[in-house]
Order: sequence, then C-alpha cells, then structure tokens
Amino acid sequence: MEFVLYEVKGQVGIITISREKALNALNSAVLDELDKTLDAVDLDTVRCLILTGAGQKSFVAGADIGEMSTLTKAEGEAFGKKGNDVFRKLEVFPIPVIAAVNGFALGGGCEISMSCDIRICSDNAVFGQPEVGLGITPGFGGTQRLARLVGPGIAKQMIYTARNIKADEALRIGLVNAVYPQEELMAAAEKMAAGIAKNAPIAVRNCKKAINDGLEAGMDDAIVIEEKLFGDCFETEDQKYGMAFFLDKNKEKVKEPFQNK
Ligand code: CAA
Repeated sequence: MEFVLYEVKGQVGIITISREKALNALNSAVLDELDKTLDAVDLDTVRCLILTGAGQKSFVAGADIGEMSTLTKAEGEAFGKKGNDVFRKLEVFPIPVIAAVNGFALGGGCEISMSCDIRICSDNAVFGQPEVGLGITPGFGGTQRLARLVGPGIAKQMIYTARNIKADEALRIGLVNAVYPQEELMAAAEKMAAGIAKNAPIAVRNCKKAINDGLEAGMDDAIVIEEKLFGDCFETEDQKYGMAFFLDKNKEKVKEPFQNK
C-alpha cells in the first residue's frame, strides 16, 4: 500500500491515511487502498479499529481537489459513489471504529470521521465542510451524517457558511466526544480501543448493529431489532462465562479474556 498503513497492536487495528504532502487528501488511490485495508482486517483477532492521519498537522484535508477539478457531472457522481461506498463500509464495519482526528478534518476528512463510531480529536483539530466555497456540495456523506450527528440547524449553518470550527466548538456541538493535547491523542485512542476490545466481542458487535440499524428505523421496529440482537448473544460461550463469572461467589478468581464465541 502506498497511502494507507495498517498496524495491529494486540486486539486493536490502526489504519493511518498517509499522504502527508497533500495533507492526507483522499484521491481515488487512497480510497481504493482504504477499501482493500478494510477487507483485509482479520475479524477473528481484531476487535476495534482506530483511524487516523499521518503527521501532526492533518487528519484528512478532504477529497483531492486536483483530481476533482476536471470531472464531468457523471464522473463527479461516480467519485461521490466511490467515497460513499468506502465510508459506508466503514460505518457498518462489524467492529467499532474510533476516529483519532489529529488536525484538519475538512470536507471528506470531516465526512470520513463521521462514518466512524466515535470521534476524539487533538487540540489543533479543525473541522468543516468547505465544499460550497469550491462550487460543490459535500459529497462523501456530509449532507446526511452531519445533520444526523449534530442536528439539522447546526449542520446547515456549517455547510452553507463553509466556516471551519475548532476542536472546542466541535466538542460543544457533539461532533467529537473528547479533545486531547496532540501528543496524548493516540494513547487516548488506544486506551479507549483496548477498553472496547476487552468486552465480549459478539455483544459489542451486536450493540453496534443495534444502534446503527435502529437509528434507521421507527421505534416499534427498532426495539425488535434490539430484541433479536439481544437474544443472539445468549448461548454464546462469552455470555455463559460472563454471567457465570458474575454469579460466582469465589471473587478471588481472575476474569478470563472473552473468546469471541
Ligand atoms: N486536495 C488536494 N490537495 C490538497 C488538499 C485537498 N483537499 N488539501 C491540501 N492539499 C495540498 C495543497 O495543495 C498543498 O500542496 P502543494 O504543497 O503541492 O501546494 C499541500 O496539501 C499543503 O497544503 P497548503 O499549502 O494549502 O497548507 P496550509 O497549511 O496553507 O493550509 C488547509 C491547510 C487549510 C487544510 C488547506 O490546505 C486547505 O484549505 N485545503 C483544502 C481543504 C478543503 O477544501 N477540503 C474539502 C475538499 S472538497 C471535498 O472534500 C468534497 C467531498 O465532500 C467529497
């Protein structure tokens, strides 16, 4: 891979978009490599992913403006689909994905972070959807996910004005869960990922699916989605062990790692 690095630390996979000379902007090659990287994640061992950008300055500075500058209408639509397909794969990826936003998250950068389950950022992070200043709409999910995450009023203001916001404002509007000094961001992401990875993997996956699928349904259907995924956890080894451990009165025993079965 030229632009995407993948490293596994214990049960946590770290994907780094690495095209530093263009502030990690997403061209077709980066999108293809991201797609392949996701396909290659070993879901038997990896229980949580972290997505970040290379360097100290930028997470992802958007889709590649040079590549987009000469597209026809049909090519523009196809480029949007290419980004949307990869971002959707990330959004519905079976295990949780944490975006560790280490700088600029503009346009496609803000959009890819919103395809992740959880966003945390460094204190130098900048978020925004600058597309209308370039003569286009957000095209990798920004018109849809920003409104769902922060509400339509704030999303419309950000998108129509194309004004960037800093980390503290991103925290205030609920776009990120926490802000860290730059040098502490990856350690915080890894700690959170390890905290997720130690829990029963089938249960964690089912939680992700229940939340994602339920958000797309009305409440009557959503609670049925939950019931099925709740029921699905029973009779697993991890459910039997987790509950037996709780009920065991011999508290000197050390809890064993969950088996993912
Ligand atoms: N596409 C292509 N190249 C980009 C880029 C992008 N989105 N963002 C930065 N770069 C390149 C610059 O062209 C520059 O390359 P050269 O050194 O070859 O000139 C290099 O990265 C460094 O960038 P700057 O010199 O501009 O760095 P800066 O510190 O002065 O500014 C910045 C940083 C504010 C992030 C600025 O680079 C910028 O505004 N970038 C564009 C941000 C943007 O508009 N993103 C949205 C793109 S549209 C989109 O994403 C559509 C969609 O929804 C799918």
